Amino acid sequence: MRKKIVAGNWKMNMNLQDGIALAKELNETLNSNKPNCGVIICTPFIHLASIAQFLNQDVIALGAENCADKEKGAYTGEVSAEMVKSTGAQYVILGHSERRGYYGETPEILKEKVLLALKNGLKVIFCIGESLEEREAGKQNEVVKAELEGSVFNLTAEEFKNIVIAYEPIWAIGTGKTATAEQAEEIHAYIRSIVAEKYGNEVAEETSILYGGSCKASNAPELFAKPDIDGGLIGGASLKAADFMGIIDAWK
Ligand code: 13P
Repeated sequence: MRKKIVAGNWKMNMNLQDGIALAKELNETLNSNKPNCGVIICTPFIHLASIAQFLNQDVIALGAENCADKEKGAYTGEVSAEMVKSTGAQYVILGHSERRGYYGETPEILKEKVLLALKNGLKVIFCIGESLEEREAGKQNEVVKAELEGSVFNLTAEEFKNIVIAYEPIWAIGTGKTATAEQAEEIHAYIRSIVAEKYGNEVAEETSILYGGSCKASNAPELFAKPDIDGGLIGGASLKAADFMGIIDAWK
């Protein structure tokens, strides 16, 4: 059985004190009320080392939101995969549409980032998803396939087992507009079918595919009830413990 996951992506929110307070609250709540799924919080780099000190990662795993496409050296302002790993984090989000769109991250750059993350023992939450224009033109399948081919389908099957896919339609991110459960299931099933074509059924059946884009406690149960939706990657609703817990409890 593949892993069910609810992951938070804090994006550029929370100063250090507020972030520590939120992580402590989640840690306490989830340790006394054990979740029925894997829980991950992905935070800004500056929070990682402090949160890793107290987080029970058997219950909530810690992840970063990005890492560099270079191993080390004169790259002012960058944070390497090795550095992320050394904080105690276990995951890294790569390929988020905000990184692709605002920071020009190409499939080639992302391919390097994925390789470095895996080399340093991090698991990758790899994001894919189409724009509104692409969906309206019926190109969503083509887009997600190209994104996988461009950055992760070079991996061996063994390496690919460390990839969690997050399908995040750009038109649903932060807009309040969620893909319907049917729309999401349709493309999740397609994504699983191309993973199966590439790596075989067994790997495809073990790959967790998360939905992201205005996912909240009120729509999570319907989304998570679909056979190919294995959880969510949550932005806005991961910034308050009660909201995030509401989504985690959708697996109960
Ligand atoms: P929202 O949940 O705020 O729409 O963000 C989704 C997202 O981009 C998670 O990575």
